[in-house]
Amino acid sequence: MTLVALEDVEKSVLLADDSRLEILKGISLSVGAGDHVSIVGRSGSGKSTLLNILGMLDEPTTGTVSFEGREVRKMRSGRLDRVRGDNVGFVFQQFNLLPGRTALDNVMMPLGHAKGRMFWNRRQIAADMLERVGLGHRIEQIADRLSGGEQQRVAIARALVRKPVLILADEPTGALDIETGASVMSLLDEVATETDAALVTITHDLHVAARARRHYRLDAGRLEEADLRRAFEASTLSAPVPPEPATASPAPAVLPPLPAANGVGA
Ligand SMILES: Nc1ncnc2c1ncn2[C@@H]1O[C@H](COP(=O)(O)OP(=O)(O)OP(=O)(O)O)[C@@H](O)[C@H]1O
Ligand SMILES: [Mg+2]
Repeated sequence: MTLVALEDVEKSVLLADDSRLEILKGISLSVGAGDHVSIVGRSGSGKSTLLNILGMLDEPTTGTVSFEGREVRKMRSGRLDRVRGDNVGFVFQQFNLLPGRTALDNVMMPLGHAKGRMFWNRRQIAADMLERVGLGHRIEQIADRLSGGEQQRVAIARALVRKPVLILADEPTGALDIETGASVMSLLDEVATETDAALVTITHDLHVAARARRHYRLDAGRLEEADLRRAFEASTLSAPVPPEPATASPAPAVLPPLPAANGVGA
């Protein structure tokens, strides 16, 4: 079943000097239940703009966006807020946590509009989700006093706590070390599989992108299918050859990070 569909979407904005910046050009994309899509692309290529449109937080300039077959532009704002709140879990690139509130308050927030058991048990459900992202011991900490990686995990717990059918994650591992990033990605996959949700991940990390089933690249506002195998090869070729070590060093326990110039642009 198609959850969200973009048809011929363009997005442009008017700049201060009256010129128009075309951010997205002719984008058509359908995301269905259980789908796992990754999008890579250079900084400034329009990835966050595209994710905001998929999550119905922003409108295209032209083209249509439909959610479960209904055109988003035709929904009244109250209804749109409800559809979004009930169905979409957003991991924002800048986290967007409520400052001055605890990790638990932040994760409980989406459950404040839930019904029945989810509403009445919201404290326990939020605490359990924080436990799953490895922050069970930090639930009462004020969000802005947490480290960047901890804040990112609070943002992920908040996105997942209401079991949304559409999970949109903008660089969900950007602030995390490789091991924590891998476990957070496993959690996103796991929760998405549990509920047959769709997961759209934006990332600069080819290892993260490779976890998805469908791979796309945004290039100057155009969306195209990405050949991750070629991107991996290009990143290996562009990596500097390390100097011969004087003594043999033990093999790393985890996969080393890709170099910044990993073929998708950083
Ligand atoms: N409201 C706006 N007004 C002016 N320019 C905008 C606006 N929104 C986005 N842009 C510009 O559009 C381009 C794409 O922005 P976007 O945030 O989607 O990029 P991105 O691919 O997510 O980049 P990054 O990888 O750095 O997060 C950028 O050059 C940005 O400055
Ligand atoms: Mg972005």
